[in-house]
Amino acid sequence: MPAACKVVQIAHDIHWVGVEDWNRRSFDAVMDLPYGTSYNAYLVRGREKIALVDTVQASFGDELMQKVRQVVDPGRIDYLVMNHAEPDHAGSIPVVMAAAPGAKLLASEKGVEMARVFFQVPAERMQAMQDGGEIDLGGKRLRFVAAPWLHWPETMFSFAVEDGVLFTCDFFGAHLASDLLFADEVGGAVLPEAKLYYAVIMMPYAKMASAGLDKAVALQPSIIAPGHGPVWRSPKPVIDAIEQWTRGPLLKKAIIPYVTMWGSTRRMAEVVTASLSGEGIETIPYDLSVTDLARLARDLVDTSAVVMGSPTVLGTVHPLIANAASMVRLLRPRARIGAFFGSYGWGGGAAAQAKATLESVKMQVVDSVDVKGPPGQADLERLAVLGKNVASKITGATAPE
Ligand SMILES: Cc1cc2nc3c(=O)[nH]c(=O)nc-3n(C[C@H](O)[C@H](O)[C@H](O)COP(=O)(O)O)c2cc1C
Ligand SMILES: [Fe+2]
Ligand SMILES: [Fe+2]
Repeated sequence: MPAACKVVQIAHDIHWVGVEDWNRRSFDAVMDLPYGTSYNAYLVRGREKIALVDTVQASFGDELMQKVRQVVDPGRIDYLVMNHAEPDHAGSIPVVMAAAPGAKLLASEKGVEMARVFFQVPAERMQAMQDGGEIDLGGKRLRFVAAPWLHWPETMFSFAVEDGVLFTCDFFGAHLASDLLFADEVGGAVLPEAKLYYAVIMMPYAKMASAGLDKAVALQPSIIAPGHGPVWRSPKPVIDAIEQWTRGPLLKKAIIPYVTMWGSTRRMAEVVTASLSGEGIETIPYDLSVTDLARLARDLVDTSAVVMGSPTVLGTVHPLIANAASMVRLLRPRARIGAFFGSYGWGGGAAAQAKATLESVKMQVVDSVDVKGPPGQADLERLAVLGKNVASKITGATAPE
């Protein structure tokens, strides 16, 4: 079967009719997508009524309709469920609503308003669903579960009660296109991509993610069917992972984003890295001139400490550090330990700026080493102590004198 026609049954009378976007390489202009992505849509058929859960990005609308047609006449769709109004999932709403003149769009109250604004769906063709509200398709019920801020304020889950299939849209998603649909078939690439996805999309709303996880788990789904990437027919690994990312213990881990122009700050980073590693801390140095920020974002999910290294440039941190710092501010990681090191030529200024940044995201700056020019032996010894200080904070021991 040509890839464009792939339709997969995931439960009794529930079909995946999504599309793969193999060539997409960037999302929201911050995430690079090594594996592309998919926009998942699901057709749910009861004895009397038919629902389509979510759509796909507008540019793939024809492919979606072609797939729907393989299972049912699109004109027979009674309900179009919009779990999320973002165009990657809702962009083909106009196509579906045109092809199914009797269809009603079901969304959260906020979703209904957004569908009106973003996709010009007339009010009489929409119905707002309350938390816990249900529709009966005939031997198959769809229950709607409020799950706001995963990823926008209007998001909700839909649950096929009799089949135990939970449709979560962005939550539990991963950017990964594959000709295999199920996570257990795709294998080891899925969870790292799900983690990156969580970092960039969900971490800023970690409390909402934690609440959403509880709601999902309470439903005891046998299948979790997200809006991007593989479907989890044994959802335990991804449930456990999100549990860890939202509220599990942070790891004995430190990340060291740094920049250097003439090598001094790099030399310092090497010493701090060696010192932290020597204390048994998993330590990841990132030269930001060659690092994709998304990789850093993924490590922010479970790192205990952020140690920033920057030379002073025009009285403040290097622009690449400023860029990384603004991402740290936006993503609001759970790490509470910070430190700084860097080199300056005359007046300095990077240290104060880095300290302010780390403190603005509730990190305590446990140590700071700012060196004039290249580091000498005494400076390198101070940096080794900085590493030890950060390590002992991480392990919970008292810092050495
Ligand atoms: C473009 C540029 C701007 C700089 N601006 C400052 C500054 O405002 N204040 C200062 O103390 N040093 C300034 N410096 C000096 C560097 O901070 C100093 O050379 C430092 O040792 C570089 O560290 P690195 O070897 O890790 O790049 C500047 C250097 C460059 C190249
Ligand atoms: Fe989204
Ligand atoms: Fe999405």
